[in-house]
Amino acid sequence: MGPITCICVKRNVACLNEAKTGCNNRITPLAIVQKRKENAVKNSGLISPLTTAVVYSKAPAVGACRRNSPRNVIPSHGKNRYSLSGTVEDTRNPKFPVGSRVVSHKGWCDYCIIDTNKQGAMAVDRVYKLPNLKNLSPSHGVGAVGMPGATAYFGFLEICKPVAGETVVVTGAAGAVGSIVGQIAKIKGCKVIGIAGSDDKVKWLEEELGFDKALNYKTMDIGAALKEAAPNGVDCYFDNVGGEISSTIINQMNNFGRVSVCGSISAYNDDQLPKATVLQVAIITKQLKIEGFVVYQWINQWPEAFNELTNWIITGKLKVREHVTEGFDKIYDAFVGMLAGENVGKAVVKI
Ligand SMILES: NC(=O)c1ccc[n+]([C@@H]2O[C@H](COP(=O)([O-])OP(=O)(O)OC[C@H]3O[C@@H](n4cnc5c(N)ncnc54)[C@H](OP(=O)(O)O)[C@@H]3O)[C@@H](O)[C@H]2O)c1
Repeated sequence: MGPITCICVKRNVACLNEAKTGCNNRITPLAIVQKRKENAVKNSGLISPLTTAVVYSKAPAVGACRRNSPRNVIPSHGKNRYSLSGTVEDTRNPKFPVGSRVVSHKGWCDYCIIDTNKQGAMAVDRVYKLPNLKNLSPSHGVGAVGMPGATAYFGFLEICKPVAGETVVVTGAAGAVGSIVGQIAKIKGCKVIGIAGSDDKVKWLEEELGFDKALNYKTMDIGAALKEAAPNGVDCYFDNVGGEISSTIINQMNNFGRVSVCGSISAYNDDQLPKATVLQVAIITKQLKIEGFVVYQWINQWPEAFNELTNWIITGKLKVREHVTEGFDKIYDAFVGMLAGENVGKAVVKI
């Protein structure tokens, strides 16, 4: 038998990245979460009540996990992969001493056991120390300085490779990832057009985040509005939503445009695959580069991104907003609300 390397983590902050039970595609019921916590405590020899203020935050990938959905968009490997931040309470690994704050992906529970031997990029047991947030809220560790921040940073910079003066479009623009993408594009000297689902979000993007233009896809003809906002065409598109909106945008791209395909939230809750205008003609004639990604491909570089994102926040170049819901029992309402677009910025549930 190898050395025992498990650590027991009491969660403080968590990001619901993927909600799946071990055997099917359902969102993890609260009862299962509770049971897991009890088992974790039992197996680790820790006896502790369900206590303390815990912040849970969440990402919409859960929407991909509806039972019987034809689109198992986000790979689950049959396990939960929510990211979480917590404090080590018991340890068999000197690299993670008691009291250290860590980020991992073990799901909604107050306690979890992490096997630090299992450290593949996509492993549910993958764990790293909470980055130095320099007095920023620890909840940023699962938001702008966590997986969503890394998604925006690498997914945009590595795939779109923006050049100052170019025109960038981002969908899901007022969300956790999209709001950071648009601001990074501004930092890089681009013209930025964001697409979001309410007038309040449009106002926030234009007036507070400095987007050059924002469009409400629920009330506007996006094809016509985009022609007006980007008369010289689009060079980079960061796609959070997929579907017909994306086809419309991609058809307005310039030659040698780059598309970073991050998410497809417009289809996560559909029982049928949605239909959208075909893109092959545009891809060929405009010689576009379209690339999908999973942010874990850059996991070893995440610390670089966290450092730069933290500095941008501290120096006011990057503004971060959290949409906070109070109470653990509201977590599913908050999740459904996020899928319905109620969140501005990163959706968080605080208990
Ligand atoms: N590839 C990766 O490694 C990776 C990693 C993390 C996240 N993601 C993906 O990135 C995307 C954004 O994630 P996030 O955490 O930043 O979520 P988010 O944007 O904070 O929240 C989801 C937002 O999606 C919008 N939305 C919902 N239904 C829509 C529809 N039918 N059409 C257009 N927009 C819709 C809603 O805003 P509106 O009010 O604007 O509709 C909602 O607020 C998701 O697709 C997620 O799966 C991918």
